Amino acid sequence: MSIIEKAADKLNRSAPAQTKSTGEFLTKHETPVGAVPLLPQSEAPDQQHNFDLARLRRLNIITPQAEHSKIAEEFRMIKRPILDNAFEQNGVKTRNGNLIMVTSALPQEGKTFCATNLAMSIAMEMDKTVLLVDADAPNPSLMKVFGIKTDRGLLDILQDDSLKLSDVIIRTSIDNLSLLPAGRHNKHATELLASESMAALLDDMAQRYSDRIIIFDAPPLLVTSEASVLASHMGQIVMIIEAEKTPQPAVRQALTLIENCELTWILLNKAQTLASVDYYGYGYYGRS
Ligand SMILES: Nc1ncnc2c1ncn2[C@@H]1O[C@H](COP(=O)(O)OP(=O)(O)OP(=O)(O)O)[C@@H](O)[C@H]1O
Ligand SMILES: [Mg+2]
Repeated sequence: MSIIEKAADKLNRSAPAQTKSTGEFLTKHETPVGAVPLLPQSEAPDQQHNFDLARLRRLNIITPQAEHSKIAEEFRMIKRPILDNAFEQNGVKTRNGNLIMVTSALPQEGKTFCATNLAMSIAMEMDKTVLLVDADAPNPSLMKVFGIKTDRGLLDILQDDSLKLSDVIIRTSIDNLSLLPAGRHNKHATELLASESMAALLDDMAQRYSDRIIIFDAPPLLVTSEASVLASHMGQIVMIIEAEKTPQPAVRQALTLIENCELTWILLNKAQTLASVDYYGYGYYGRS
């Protein structure tokens, strides 16, 4: 039985869910994301941020120059069912299908890593544009991955009526990819993310950017309440499970918090293969 089949089997036993396509993917573990110096703050909202692509590659992030890397191949398979459900197909449309949240039960399972690679992979398609949002207000880290230091973002829009999305979105040197930082953290962050303004903003984003994929790097479901609140607005959720690590009861409990989402995809991250302990991998299946 493959790693994925085992995971699917395990989850089926813990939370009866209809499962569909499975796959197994490999990538090599490289430098951890945390320890990288930040570039100077990008001041003007309209300013384009030029990525240090070599640095991103060192972090095992997909870049346009490495389209045929192992990780790029893996995410090519991972993104396909998500894209299939993001927009209307044969007259069928998932509500807010273009809003996709990446979350997990517990911290450090690979949410930011997978959200970033998913966004990069989709942005490299000719006709797709992606907005990658740092929705992990308690522990924002997305901008560190890209080497951007910025303060304003999502939380600021929710508090300041005079700010527009376009004031805080950062354009990047990858044409189809823009970033929305988490913004200045404050003690009302949870209430802000759960507020009517947030609900309105998300619906507005889904409509106004209906031709765009919007990916949210969210907090862990079992640590803060933000992710489960956000989940109710999402068309699709990618739930990361760290292979051989996330305890089964935690997975089960996390799944109950997002059970109202129409489409939940499970991505098994950091799965070691028999080939080598140096290798990590992804398994992927969805339930609907
Ligand atoms: N498949 C993978 N291959 C290699 N490294 C990985 C993989 N998944 C995650 N990592 C690394 O593991 C660490 C934790 O990943 P990441 O920051 O994405 O987790 P997270 O779930 O977003 O954590 P947090 O809950 O703190 O936000 C990072 O150093 C990241 O680069
Ligand atoms: Mg993270």
